Amino acid sequence: MDKRSLPRFASLTLIALLSPPLLARGEGRLDPEIGQAQAVGTEHGMVVAQEALAARIGADILQKGGNAIDAAVAVGFAMAVTYPRAGNIGGGGFMVIHRASGEDTTIDYREAAPQAITEKSFLDGQGNADPQKSRDSALAIGVPGTVAGLALAEEKYGSGRFTLADLIAPAIALARDGIAVADDTADALPRDRARLARWPSSAQIFLKADGTPLAAGDRLVQGDLADTLTAIAKGGPRAFYEGPIADRLAAAVKSAGGVMTVDDLKSYRAIERAAVHGTYRGYDVVSMPPPSSGGVVLIEMLNILEGYDLAHDDAAQALFLMIEAMKRAYADRAFFLGDPDRVEVPIARLTSKDYAGEWRATIDPAHATPASELRPGHPTAPEGGNTTHFSVVDRFGNAVSNTYTLNFSYGVGLVAAGTGIVLNNELDDFAAKPEAPNAYGLIGYEANAPGPGKRPLSSMTPTIVLKDGAPFLITGSPGGSLIINVVLQVVIDVIDRGLDLAAAVSAPRVHNQWMPDLVIAEPGLSAGLVAALQARGDKVMVRRLPTSANSILVGPTGFIGAADPRTRGALAVGF
Ligand code: GLY
Repeated sequence: MDKRSLPRFASLTLIALLSPPLLARGEGRLDPEIGQAQAVGTEHGMVVAQEALAARIGADILQKGGNAIDAAVAVGFAMAVTYPRAGNIGGGGFMVIHRASGEDTTIDYREAAPQAITEKSFLDGQGNADPQKSRDSALAIGVPGTVAGLALAEEKYGSGRFTLADLIAPAIALARDGIAVADDTADALPRDRARLARWPSSAQIFLKADGTPLAAGDRLVQGDLADTLTAIAKGGPRAFYEGPIADRLAAAVKSAGGVMTVDDLKSYRAIERAAVHGTYRGYDVVSMPPPSSGGVVLIEMLNILEGYDLAHDDAAQALFLMIEAMKRAYADRAFFLGDPDRVEVPIARLTSKDYAGEWRATIDPAHATPASELRPGHPTAPEGGNTTHFSVVDRFGNAVSNTYTLNFSYGVGLVAAGTGIVLNNELDDFAAKPEAPNAYGLIGYEANAPGPGKRPLSSMTPTIVLKDGAPFLITGSPGGSLIINVVLQVVIDVIDRGLDLAAAVSAPRVHNQWMPDLVIAEPGLSAGLVAALQARGDKVMVRRLPTSANSILVGPTGFIGAADPRTRGALAVGF
């Protein structure tokens, strides 16, 4: 579809999207199981990350005079060691940067499909989508982008006080000396054991000799990864994309049945892209453009919601309106968004106030049509939490919002022998076939079809909200399809509901992604609100959403950081 067809599409899909109201915000918003984030205040700099050792490494770089980009790069490499299920150099992600000079930019280091990937790569013999191929096989491995992305960010926007080697050094030490397994890694390894056990190169790092996973307190030593990081520190990013490391990566993927070659690695480039910009009630919203859907969908939802008085509306009505906005913007995601270097993505139209107004005119506050009456539904609830987000701010006025991932926890589960690199299964984020759901239940069409060199559509939403041109809120989250709605709710909780950051990060959330036609509500929203939604005909599933909105707020007296209490071990560190 092109831009000209958008209004017509909007009116058609809107009918498909009207669905019942939901939970209310403002009541019953604390789940004792989730708990409440602890706000950390500081004046000079702040890092909030999903793993504590890495967060401290970033804060140390800030303390030594580094800027937010230096610190983010150090955190990115450190988490490849300390948070191996999502921190990575074998995957990819996105970085949004606000510079003290006032400019905003982004680094797209999303994985790219190998040249041998085609529209048919993830289909079975009958032409149906084959999730085994796109999720559990080496065919799912995209060319990793993290090393190129972090190096590009540092080269262009680092302070110049540190070399790339300086910023990788703490990660090398932790990989070589080992770390005690703790917190979220200890929680996740039992769940991921079976997938890691499929490959001896993975099992020998993360499992014990008897096949059981490393447990809390066990030592995780990653000698091969230390050697790989040392080679990158000495030779720069090309040492990853060409030469012995690239040879080993390609060989490992080939022997596991995948198609990534040394040429795919050699030709990979991180791409600097203009940020997507929106405004919301006097704030500027700076977020990630395609190939992430995050920024466009977030701004589209905020534009729709700006037409309502969420701060004073009845709580149930405010929540209903928010979910109506979610459905519409996620429908647009499915139809229009993909790799902008391969398909025309109507970013300006989708993020315009006019377009939001057209959508808003279709919202009937009293009557909703279930989406399932108009589109095929997919009865699975989205999973998530396998990505990781960190936020950084410095005293100079720079801010970084970074989300990166292997897709699933430990990606496809394969460590390339001799490298210590855990490889992603990111290519499941393509639409293997129109309307075939990916692992997050997201459907897509031609815009996000697999193709050689193409980058699969993401939901990662690293975001920086500015007030009067300066950083105000730095946020983002893991969670697959949940991510965009998590960021939406943190922004609305802070701006409309006036919650302090710790409360906003901790508050139970809701999720709707158009298809399936289902609202997921976290425990902690009151039973009365859930009942109100159900009375309107909504399907509501109550369950925890595996997200982690590690965020920073810049207030008049300094920085406030809050690590999401949903992840054990997440930490806000300032100095
Ligand atoms: N792999 C999840 C995402 O990028 O949205």
